[in-house]
Amino acid sequence: MGLRKNPNKMSQKIFIKTFGCQMNEYDSNRIYDSVKKIGFEKTDNYDDANCYLLNTCHIRDKAKEKVYHEIGRVKKIFRSKQKPLVIIAGCVAQAENQEMLRREPYIDLVVGPQSYHKINNTILNYLKKKEKMEETDFDAVSKFKYFSKIKNEAGKVSSFLTIQEGCDKFCHFCVVPYTRGPECSRPFQQILDEAKYLSEKGTKEIILLGQNVNAYNDGKNRLSNLIMEIEKIPDIKRIRYTTSHPKDMTEDLINVYKNSQKLMPLVHLPIQSGSDKILKLMNRKHTIKDYLYIFEKLKKINSKIEFSSDFIIGYPGEKDGDFENTLSLIEKINFINSYSFIFSARPGTVAFDLELTDKKISAQRLEMIQNKLYENQMNRNKLFKNQTINVLVENLTDDKTQTFGRSEYMTSVVFNGNKEHIGKIVPVKINKFNRTTLFGEIVKGLDKKVA
Ligand code: SAM
Ligand code: SF4
Ligand code: F3S
Repeated sequence: MGLRKNPNKMSQKIFIKTFGCQMNEYDSNRIYDSVKKIGFEKTDNYDDANCYLLNTCHIRDKAKEKVYHEIGRVKKIFRSKQKPLVIIAGCVAQAENQEMLRREPYIDLVVGPQSYHKINNTILNYLKKKEKMEETDFDAVSKFKYFSKIKNEAGKVSSFLTIQEGCDKFCHFCVVPYTRGPECSRPFQQILDEAKYLSEKGTKEIILLGQNVNAYNDGKNRLSNLIMEIEKIPDIKRIRYTTSHPKDMTEDLINVYKNSQKLMPLVHLPIQSGSDKILKLMNRKHTIKDYLYIFEKLKKINSKIEFSSDFIIGYPGEKDGDFENTLSLIEKINFINSYSFIFSARPGTVAFDLELTDKKISAQRLEMIQNKLYENQMNRNKLFKNQTINVLVENLTDDKTQTFGRSEYMTSVVFNGNKEHIGKIVPVKINKFNRTTLFGEIVKGLDKKVA
């Protein structure tokens, strides 16, 4: 066992690897904010680490195998060294709990997503008693409370901020309600305090997170109230939220697009399928008509609003006609920057035992849908050519010769800025593009006016 007990809090090195969604990324940062208090320092180098934490995702198949594969890699790296303390966190930890400790003795601690407030004690207890442990209670309230007392030190130009955890929707394909537990909204003031602190630390864009972010409801306030309150923080220039559900796209939230100056015009709203029959089989609790209502309403408020989405291809029962409906919906809404996945049967979900769509057909459909979505992305990016757009500058490119930022639609922009531009919104004239990135030059003279 490689981790030395250290009463003087001398530095221990933790290596954190994160799979999965933005909530896992946020959690990994917060876990680090917590373990810092008991003397850990982050390292990006496996070799330096005496603690290895893997934050896992369970959304599609092979998730579990991916975890054991990764542990195999770590074992190899540390073959001739002292074994690090190995902690498995995240949604696989929640789903597999005790089983992980039985199957892989190299794992020391298993901590589920709603138990991170216990991580320091769990580690300290392990160091004292050498007892392997699993912490997988659902206790979002205590987690929120604990982390509200530990500052979020992310301090990035664009920072995540979790406002809600869990899901009560139970779509038939999805593990999230089982791995993240019931919907629970974080107290309003805690969120505002964290937003203000992030702003003091240099954050200019806040991305509000939740498995069902627009279901936010603390009994008094909804997501719309939060957005309008965060809007008042002068140094926060951009606000986004993800991931939302069509059923929770309430009128107050739609109307925020009329009043907010800082809410970005990209709405990520997963639809999963363009067929009402499939939506019903999925237990999605919304129809295509409901979705189109939201789309049309938002477009009326601001025609520049664009939509992105998630699609599941080859859901059990998906026939050619259903898939064609999905393609027509993509045509109609002109989704940009979207994700599409072949249905993956997840143990414990209602859809697990259903008859699968033929693999070859699903693969063909996936290729068709991705081609269509990529074409939309290219067409959208083409419209930016020769246009001057506002870019929030996040950092230098890896080779340090250029700057990297994002457009209002989250598209990556690479241009000839310098490190003084980081954290500012600057005008960039786009002269080149590919599917994922816009390239351009800063428009001199205008840059001071925008930020
Ligand atoms: N709450 C969001 C919503 O209502 O759509 C989605 C959150 S989920 C973490 C992200 C995406 O993973 C989903 O939108 C869905 O497209 C995809 N996903 C979830 N379960 C899946 C499964 N069993 N097979 C394939 N994709 C899946
Ligand atoms: Fe999963 Fe989203 Fe459905 Fe919840 S609403 S079950 S997170 S897909
Ligand atoms: Fe994966 Fe859990 Fe996020 S299953 S997508 S890490 S909520």
